[in-house]
Amino acid sequence: MDSLFIQSGYQGPDSNRQHNFIEGANSSERGMRVARRVLVAGGGGFIGHHLVNRLKREGNWVRAVDLHPPYFEPSQADEFIVHDLREYQACLESTKDIDDVYQLAADMGGIGYITANHAELTRNNVLINAHMLEAARKSSVSRYLYTSSACVYPSFKQNETQVAPLKEADAIPADPERGYGWEKLFSEQLCSYYRSDFGLQTSSVRFHNIYGPLGTYEGGREKAPAALSRKVALAENNGWIDIWGDGLQTRSFCYIDDCVEGLTRILKSGRPEPINLGSNELISVRGLAELIVTISGKTLKIKTDPSKPQGVRGRNSDNGELFRVLGWEPSVKLREGLAATYSWIYDQLRQGGRAKPPQPIAPVIR
Ligand SMILES: NC(=O)c1ccc[n+]([C@@H]2O[C@H](COP(=O)([O-])OP(=O)(O)OC[C@H]3O[C@@H](n4cnc5c(N)ncnc54)[C@H](O)[C@@H]3O)[C@@H](O)[C@H]2O)c1
Repeated sequence: MDSLFIQSGYQGPDSNRQHNFIEGANSSERGMRVARRVLVAGGGGFIGHHLVNRLKREGNWVRAVDLHPPYFEPSQADEFIVHDLREYQACLESTKDIDDVYQLAADMGGIGYITANHAELTRNNVLINAHMLEAARKSSVSRYLYTSSACVYPSFKQNETQVAPLKEADAIPADPERGYGWEKLFSEQLCSYYRSDFGLQTSSVRFHNIYGPLGTYEGGREKAPAALSRKVALAENNGWIDIWGDGLQTRSFCYIDDCVEGLTRILKSGRPEPINLGSNELISVRGLAELIVTISGKTLKIKTDPSKPQGVRGRNSDNGELFRVLGWEPSVKLREGLAATYSWIYDQLRQGGRAKPPQPIAPVIR
């Protein structure tokens, strides 16, 4: 198995032990309480990287594992390991001496990517999730959070643009997104079996379109907010951009800061059943594009491309259960989060000499 240690905050095995003052199961016998030893699987990815930053700010000891380091800035993890988590041995090494696991590693991307790669993507994610759960059990991890998706919800509940927000119980009877959604639904079930059969504290979170700075914005895996921001930033003023589908399809989008806040709260809650984590601010894809154009300060025409995949007709998050369990729900307004995201993507493209003026003014969130 290939593995590689990358220096970041990591100072070597002995220094790890010096930070080993934890309240979790692996360390309770030490009787000390400062922080926990946390694994972020997928810590080189968009959400995982933001989560590592957050966990470090809270004073935890963090190990991040991924196929690659974060693309846009160095990881703050105490230890960053390049591992392929489809391999059981890699999962075992990753979960060793860990209290809490956030499992975000997945082969995934936007609608174009997930609809074009059913077999390979599903196989990769089945292997990662089956091996990660078993390794977490073998390593006596105390809390395990699995990141699922709104793609588990049945297509027959998402045929209208003005769709009823999806409640957790809507997932069954099942008719999820082919490939990616079926695997997510199955892995949620597997988490529940590990909880009931082996006593591993598992939680499953269903994300609804997470977006923000430091995420992929080109190459085919990017999601709608990042793809549209890139198109707008690259467009000449008074030019045009294209959007996929007829643009009337609706979604809600959740800003990354809210996502990370929700993740840490859900893990601590110990909630056994899957729970939504998303915004309930519904908008059409055309509306999303128009909002980004307004933020950019440009005047652009929007052309639709019905030949491109557009996913379900409408999807929104019902946050009733989230609020009942946590007394909290996402609060960053779409306009605010998009302004921060557009500004970051514009800046990335400007550095490569590709963005077209005007330059946006970077906003401050909250
Ligand atoms: N971003 C969203 O809107 C969204 C929506 C629903 C669900 N999710 C889920 O949230 C999690 C994180 O998503 P993200 O947006 O940060 O995606 P991402 O693609 O940025 O991060 C996933 C990371 O997993 C890593 N990975 C893939 N295969 C791996 C392997 N075999 N071994 C080790 N690492 C591997 C990738 O390299 C990547 O860095 C995923 O489980 C995803 O399915 C995300």
